[in-house]
Amino acid sequence: MNNIDQVRMLELPERGDERGNLVIAEGGSDIPFDIQRVFYIYGSDPDVIRGCHANRVSEVVLINVAGSSKVKVLDGEGNEIVYSLNRPKTGIYLPNMVWKEMYDFSADSVLLCLASTHYDETEYIRDLDEYKKIIKESAQ
Ligand code: TYD
Repeated sequence: MNNIDQVRMLELPERGDERGNLVIAEGGSDIPFDIQRVFYIYGSDPDVIRGCHANRVSEVVLINVAGSSKVKVLDGEGNEIVYSLNRPKTGIYLPNMVWKEMYDFSADSVLLCLASTHYDETEYIRDLDEYKKIIKESAQ
């Protein structure tokens, strides 16, 4: 159950004109799931590390609609990839069961998160060793 190969950047459609930019994120097409929840993170200092969890069920797309941040994705088997988010029309798709950490927030960072589920704390794995154990067991 290692889903890191599904992680990918998404280029969202933009309909800009002389009035400015408009970026579209439609559930089920631009976003590869039906959107059940939206939340956003701002005002995090650059030395803060957020996330530090895996979701058993939720898929998410993260978009820095302002400013920039970095997202580190771990698969629990020793592989990790760092993505830079710095464009309002570029998101990262994170499937369930990947470990994610968000950090390096710029002062103007607004990190939008679109999620495939309503909030349910019981689907969070917040201990990295527990996550690695689950990944290891699922590979056997
Ligand atoms: P947390 O998961 O720690 O945020 P992050 O992953 O960005 O570090 O969430 C912070 C608090 O907000 C925690 O008490 C749970 C709560 N929360 C909700 O109630 N609903 C939500 O959709 C989210 C994402 C968090």
